[in-house]
Amino acid sequence: MPSADTASSLHVDSLIERIRPEVRNDYAYIVSHPPNIEVKLNQNESPYDLPAHLKQELADELLRTELNRYPSEQPYELRDALADHLGVSPEMLLLGNGSNELTYTFGLTLLEKGTPVVLPTPMFALYEKVANLHGADLTSVPPREDLSFDTDAIVRAIEQVDPAITVVTTPNNPTGLTMSLDEIERVLSAASGFVVVDEAYYEFLEGKTAQSLLDDHPNLIIVRTFSKAAGLAGMRLGYMLGHPAIMQEILKARLPFMIDRVAEASGLLLLKHRELISERVRSMKKSIRELVTRLRGMDGVDVVPTEANFAIFRTPVDPPVLLDALAEDGVLVRNMQGYPELQGYLRVNAGTEKENNQFLTALNGALTNQGLVA
Ligand SMILES: Cc1ncc(COP(=O)(O)O)c(C=O)c1O
Repeated sequence: MPSADTASSLHVDSLIERIRPEVRNDYAYIVSHPPNIEVKLNQNESPYDLPAHLKQELADELLRTELNRYPSEQPYELRDALADHLGVSPEMLLLGNGSNELTYTFGLTLLEKGTPVVLPTPMFALYEKVANLHGADLTSVPPREDLSFDTDAIVRAIEQVDPAITVVTTPNNPTGLTMSLDEIERVLSAASGFVVVDEAYYEFLEGKTAQSLLDDHPNLIIVRTFSKAAGLAGMRLGYMLGHPAIMQEILKARLPFMIDRVAEASGLLLLKHRELISERVRSMKKSIRELVTRLRGMDGVDVVPTEANFAIFRTPVDPPVLLDALAEDGVLVRNMQGYPELQGYLRVNAGTEKENNQFLTALNGALTNQGLVA
């Protein structure tokens, strides 16, 4: 007779069997964080926290906020302020608990088992995860040799499978490479389904955006976030821009009350002090430019050109070995080995000058220890 423990673990096994295979076969999205990390350059975040005087304003707002009351379904004040800032009508906007939440909701709105989806690679992993969770029929489109998205191949894939969703990202995470407006328009014109243009890093392009294509292409959905240039990753605030009728449909699939009152207040605060974002974008751009130049100056280091606040690079050292060596010096960057096209690459984001120096010193030390730098 099985012991109580065995019986309960058999029961758990049979319960797990009931979980949809699409979930069971997936992985939890967990970003590893070794102890004693002082220089965190692994999630493309801004190195700048909200300045103390703005945190104080937020704290004052929190004191005035009735936390016993639900927020509204959409944060209307923030939505209106954002619409005004972007020059669009508020009905074209859907705010979410980070852009990831909107991606999940969008998947829920459109995807069933076997729904065709086209994703060029390498691409921010969440899109593939959402497609897989719904059992969508995924067509991956490999990049050109320089790792940029292959527009001709994307258009061919769209013509072949007529996807419900095609996703492109510009600048792309993890490569930092961009697509031109002409290329995006070719994708939009080829697709009868939706085309998501993920512009999580669009502030770094200073004005280059697919927004002007919204009028002629009701299948265009632009996804953006307050997590990167705006430096609010800890607050969870993102948005979608699209045709008002489509936004209304997506709203039906959402969990209610996804934006809490404090997140709304922090978004409003940043819009009120938007010069802070531009100032910090300038600093991050300077930081990544200097970082890339100095990386390029190191023997055996190869860097992909980037237009975002991060870059991928490779060295002759095996990435896990390098990652461990950097972590020992308190520096965290990201291994790209989960992407088949990016074997050997690591990704690092722009830090403060001090953080960049610590990273470069640690990298130089690790390469020297491997006998790769004289
Ligand atoms: C391309 C891209 N889209 C979306 C996100 C997620 O943004 P959020 O923090 O708004 O969920 C990221 C974060 O790394 C990203 O790189």
